[in-house]
Amino acid sequence: MPGSYIILKNPRFVVRLDIFEELDHAIQDNENKGPKLIALSGLGGMGKSQIALEFCYRNQDYYQYIFWMEADTDAALQSSFKTAAEKLDPPIFAENPADIVRRMLEWFEKNSGWLLVFDNADDYTLNSTSNGRLQRDYFPRSGRGVILMTTRLNYGTGQKKSVVDLNEIQMDDSTALKLLLRENVDDGNALEIVKLLGYLPLALDLTGAFMEIEKCTPTEFLRKYENKSEAYLNPANYVQERMGKDGGKTVFTVWEVSFDRIKNKDPLAASLIQSIAFLYPDNIPLALFENHAQTIFVDKTISSIFKRAAKRAAQLMADYSVGRQTTPKDSNSNVQTTIGAAQMLADYSLVRRTTRKDSEQDDPGKDTLSIHRLVQAAILSKIKLPEKKEMSKRLLSALFHEMKPKNERSVEARPAQLLEGAHVSAPTDRRLSYKSTFVRRC
Ligand SMILES: Nc1ncnc2c1ncn2[C@@H]1O[C@H](COP(=O)(O)OP(=O)(O)OP(=O)(O)O)[C@@H](O)[C@H]1O
Ligand SMILES: [Mg+2]
Repeated sequence: MPGSYIILKNPRFVVRLDIFEELDHAIQDNENKGPKLIALSGLGGMGKSQIALEFCYRNQDYYQYIFWMEADTDAALQSSFKTAAEKLDPPIFAENPADIVRRMLEWFEKNSGWLLVFDNADDYTLNSTSNGRLQRDYFPRSGRGVILMTTRLNYGTGQKKSVVDLNEIQMDDSTALKLLLRENVDDGNALEIVKLLGYLPLALDLTGAFMEIEKCTPTEFLRKYENKSEAYLNPANYVQERMGKDGGKTVFTVWEVSFDRIKNKDPLAASLIQSIAFLYPDNIPLALFENHAQTIFVDKTISSIFKRAAKRAAQLMADYSVGRQTTPKDSNSNVQTTIGAAQMLADYSLVRRTTRKDSEQDDPGKDTLSIHRLVQAAILSKIKLPEKKEMSKRLLSALFHEMKPKNERSVEARPAQLLEGAHVSAPTDRRLSYKSTFVRRC
């Protein structure tokens, strides 16, 4: 595979041919002398990142190199440039992140046939007046390639044709129904739900997963939704900015229907997703929770879940090891319990779980979770400030222990992914000067 993909294809992707055609036209018609610059814009949750990802997979024979850059913060951008630099042949190595970025930009400017995606280039965390800064600091100025950025902002790229605006291209009924219904049967009310959710892909996907797992009919879901929706007449301002008032309300409501159910079924899954809401949203290693369950989760119910699982595992081990010297591979009860909770969240589409079979057993990138930023916003809005403080303290402590040198293994020797993947958020905008860990607004 040319270039560097760090994100796997979404197996549930529902194709929107009209948008791929728009993107093809935008690229063909763009007359820039240097790289062609295309912005895929639209409110949060409309499917920009998903479309960009599918676009990469569909065009992998066309472009010689494809690079995916997480563009929401400087740290994420630098980490993406580093990953890309290491994948080149010959690879580019440099100590200083700024040197890597500079040398990568030189590489782009000298080469052709590349597609460079800047995902979530919303730029608000880069700094307030920074629309130009992302472009100035991270975009190659020459070279024959295509830059595709996904953004919630209405970026002018100079030429009208270079902006594909999802706000103007609503999903058609049959595509929206496909996303919502999955294998479920329409009892006549599915289109009503689609309209109620404003054709918003994020909300349709969450609802589809809920109805599938709960074996809930569209009519039953409508009832649950209507009971909840009163609570969210006014989503928080920053959510409104990113999704509009209706989109914000929709996602908050849909999220809460799922969360209520999960809390009943598995309190650990509920606590896990709350913790995940504090972290940098992509590539979160499940190992962090497996290794530090006791530090991160304090709730008595959860401790007893772990204790029960440990007892069961001990019993299994005793049975298993009769006459044997080796232990079963999955005998670690924390691992099994945490994986069970993570899988439940993935089944409800609240997180995406990626397991890589080709990774080493102790590679933290082997089993990772990603969560949508707007789902994080919904979760955080329901946690009270003192609890937020306590939870971020516990996560920081777990991260600190994970990063501390263990015996002969130094921080430097630990797989970089864990450090890069785990950025903790706290309840304020305050920045922490703590390795690559930084604070996000919640
Ligand atoms: N075409 C699609 N097929 C299947 N699911 C989709 C599709 N588009 C969007 N989704 C679902 O909606 C969610 C939100 O999509 P995505 O992350 O692409 O939105 P976005 O526009 O990039 O939002 P943001 O601006 O917040 O980053 C996805 O996680 C996925 O579950
Ligand atoms: Mg996105």
